[in-house]
Amino acid sequence: MSLYQTREQLIFDGVDVVTLAELDGTPVYVYSWSSIAQQLTTIQRDLAPSKVHIHYAVKANSNLAILHRLKKHEIGFDVVSEGELSKVLQIGCDPAKIVFSGVGKSREELSFALKVGVGCINIESNAEIIRLIEVANQLNVTDTKIALRINPSVAIESHHNISTANSTSKFGIFPEELDQSIEHIARNRNLTLTGISFHLGSEIHSIQPYRQALTVILDVVDRLRSANFSIHHLNLGGGFGIPNQDSEGFSFKELGKTLRQTLQDQHFTVHIEPGRFILGQAGILITRVEYLKENSGKNRPTYAIVDAGMNDFMRPMLYDAKPCVRSVTSKRSKPKKMNIAGPICESTDVFCTETMLATGADDLLVIEDVGAYGFSLSSNYNTRPRIAELLIENDEIHIVRERETISDLNKLENVKARD
Ligand code: LLP
Repeated sequence: MSLYQTREQLIFDGVDVVTLAELDGTPVYVYSWSSIAQQLTTIQRDLAPSKVHIHYAVKANSNLAILHRLKKHEIGFDVVSEGELSKVLQIGCDPAKIVFSGVGKSREELSFALKVGVGCINIESNAEIIRLIEVANQLNVTDTKIALRINPSVAIESHHNISTANSTSKFGIFPEELDQSIEHIARNRNLTLTGISFHLGSEIHSIQPYRQALTVILDVVDRLRSANFSIHHLNLGGGFGIPNQDSEGFSFKELGKTLRQTLQDQHFTVHIEPGRFILGQAGILITRVEYLKENSGKNRPTYAIVDAGMNDFMRPMLYDAKPCVRSVTSKRSKPKKMNIAGPICESTDVFCTETMLATGADDLLVIEDVGAYGFSLSSNYNTRPRIAELLIENDEIHIVRERETISDLNKLENVKARD
């Protein structure tokens, strides 16, 4: 674990949190490169001897410095927008190692993906197949490799806002819709169906839903093979949970075992798209207490009002996530039960309730495990500039994203009507 307490200091990846906070102020995201690299190694080691291709899900954290370093580990990338695709091309990723996912790809995005020659486009509906055929014909691009994202209707135990394979979900093609997909693809020579994909959702801690999904998916593969398609790869998506109070996190050893048992006769290449598992534990958010609002009566909580808001870190408000918060030792105060809330004018801007903390005005707090879907979900709500991101690598601290300024926020707005 990158975060630990000594007698005097709270240390993150070898650096005192106070030093990190002083470098560019607070709130600030800080990432540990060694922790990211370690997670990659864990996945590769635990899946061995199964050979599995990793495509990092860029949406979890798309900072260029991180993408650039991940690329050196020879992995591929899963992107869902023109912006993400541009970023991975900017760091010099081989387009063949890019998978383009997403339920609503625009004509422009498909056209961009075809022009740069991404390795695979994961198709989410029959309407998308028709659109892709049109775009490929217009551009005269042949041999576009696609995979069908199947929705296997498998329930997971995560918050419903991060479950994606329900029977009413917008994601993927349902097995009942497959005959139509086969018809569309068979009629067009420009598309080559090479794989099948699925993605069940996020924060999955057990192998069980993947096993259940594989049963449905292998049936789909049989149907496709009977229709003379050669399926070369199977993409299991992401969703692999990190440790929390109730779980030690997803076990890639179990996944490896399952893949060897279930797919031994299949001759597939297996792909996975982890986001949170690689980045989640590698990031902290440092925030400073502005005020302590002491409770003024029974049933009234004490609030620590901090300088980070829900615009900086959204997960507790979107998914009822219960973040772990630590105080940077306060000599002035005794531990006390309190709610930790941000400065945003919204009642939902509360990170945690009834947390025991020793803290007071001007003290620092650290929110743990926010490397994934922390900064990437942040916004400018309440006209607040997005915060800086730091990366620690070999004892050096890099500012990998500058703090936005108010003029950054305003520069695209026009006061006068255009002539
Ligand atoms: N592949 C696909 C097709 C996905 O849609 C996603 C996540 C992933 C891979 C990566 O999933 P991961 O391994 O990171 O769980 N904002 C939410 C998570 C939503 C993720 C959406 N798709 C959160 O903060 O928990």
